[in-house]
Amino acid sequence: MSLNEISEEIKTCKLCPLHKSRKNTVPGEGSSKAKLMLIGEAPGVEEDEQGRPFVGRAGKILDDALKYANLNRKDLFITSVVKCRPPSNRIPTLQEIKTCNPYLKRQIDMIKPKVICLLGNIALQTFFKKVSISKLRGKAIERDDQTYFCTYHPAAVLYNANLKSKIYEDMMRIRKLIKKS
Ligand code: URA
Repeated sequence: MSLNEISEEIKTCKLCPLHKSRKNTVPGEGSSKAKLMLIGEAPGVEEDEQGRPFVGRAGKILDDALKYANLNRKDLFITSVVKCRPPSNRIPTLQEIKTCNPYLKRQIDMIKPKVICLLGNIALQTFFKKVSISKLRGKAIERDDQTYFCTYHPAAVLYNANLKSKIYEDMMRIRKLIKKS
């Protein structure tokens, strides 16, 4: 089984109702050897159009933060907890997250990233139940031989411009974590 095969499976997935309203699935993209995996919430309108993760407004903010930390998108793997756009960009339901989770797990098992960066509350709570982002943001978290790092979702900057410098800071911290071998 390869990452591409998982993506192909996702592309024909009908396991939850989101398949009815999507234009494209957004399985994720990047390197199968990525040391860093970034996990967002769910595709938005632009991602749904293009079938690619983080290519809309939040993606521009993410790209700027990656550039600031000298991280190259092609060396990472970028995906989201849910692979199809929820209508009107609503938050994915617990059931949708649960149904989609085996795809994410298989992607992680295949890539074996050194660091998993959780972007925003939904990604955080998919891995760490009922923990608030203010508690875990900005530091490495070790669990079951895996390093996690949580930061704000890039889209949060659209509502609170002060968060931009925090995401930039966090990307620098992540860079240090993955360089340290
Ligand atoms: N937000 C996400 O969480 N994922 C995307 O792919 C785009 C926006």
